Amino acid sequence: MLRTVMLAAARSRACRDLAENTPLLRPLVDRFVAGETLDAVLAATAALTTDRLVTIDHLGEDTHDRAAADAVVDAYVALLGRLAATGLARRAEVSVKLSALGQALPDDDADKIALDNARRICAAAAEAGTTVTVDMEDHTTTDSTLGIVADLRADHPWVGAVLQAQLRRTEGDCRALAGPGSRVRLCKGAYAEPAAVAFRDKHEVDTSYVRCLKILMAGDGLPMVATHDPRLVAIARHLADEHGRGPGDYELQMLNGVRPDAQRELAAEGLTVRVYLPYGTEWYGYFMRRLAERPANLAFFARSLLTRS
Ligand code: FDA
Repeated sequence: MLRTVMLAAARSRACRDLAENTPLLRPLVDRFVAGETLDAVLAATAALTTDRLVTIDHLGEDTHDRAAADAVVDAYVALLGRLAATGLARRAEVSVKLSALGQALPDDDADKIALDNARRICAAAAEAGTTVTVDMEDHTTTDSTLGIVADLRADHPWVGAVLQAQLRRTEGDCRALAGPGSRVRLCKGAYAEPAAVAFRDKHEVDTSYVRCLKILMAGDGLPMVATHDPRLVAIARHLADEHGRGPGDYELQMLNGVRPDAQRELAAEGLTVRVYLPYGTEWYGYFMRRLAERPANLAFFARSLLTRS
């Protein structure tokens, strides 16, 4: 119930305006977000890549204006240029949301605009010597996003896809995407979805995650196991061993600011750990999804309000 309310608030303009004008939220936002500027995210990337890999997200989503979508592309191209120039591209890639690149525009050719914009980012990533993963948004975008990933992979087979275990369709998508070289990030899914298309019960989502993981680990691609759930991490490690996958043959992925000690411990054990690192001014939607995942984050926020008053 609380999760549904938080996720509805994540899409509300009024809540967003209120949150952005509440300085007391800043410490909690800073836990998850690297900062607002390119310099800030490069500094955070340099620190994290001493023992982990990174995927950087330039925050923004649901862009309804063509110029804003173009500006997002420019920001990614600038970011990739700096990653190359600083040598960080060896250990850092980028994650992109297609709704920030034009997929959500009212135009009839919105998908083509998003594809062309994503192509520009992939070309810049290729030049920098790194990769791109295309985030997955709510279920109304899944077919369009997977179609665009397939088109991008024609030129850049290393483009990563994201699948959400909470969707009923995802086992089938895992089978379709488990081929040679295919980079697939498996997550639970951060969006409020209707029961017709998604499992709503936590246990059902978790068991779906395990079924999907089995398909990806048995396949020929690179499974990217995106979860902070210690039981699922243990199952992933067990399945990797069973299929003879070494540390370089799959990734464990976690969000910046979530279970950082576990991230460091897993990396110290020699496993490949990648941190999803967002930056930029458009933090509201991302931040609200993080609050929705864990009610304790709200308590943390309430405590910070009390200690300041
Ligand atoms: P679960 O929510 O069950 O959490 C397990 C444990 O992890 C919790 O008990 C808690 O200890 C800790 N934890 C989890 N979230 C926390 C938080 N916000 N704050 C503090 N502790 C927390 N989703 C999507 O729809 N599309 C996408 O493209 C992506 N991309 C993505 C990339 C990466 C690298 C990760 C790790 C996650 C995503 N997600 C995503 C988000 C994902 O779908 C999911 O919402 C979160 O990862 C939370 O689910 P868990 O698997 O961590 O399990």
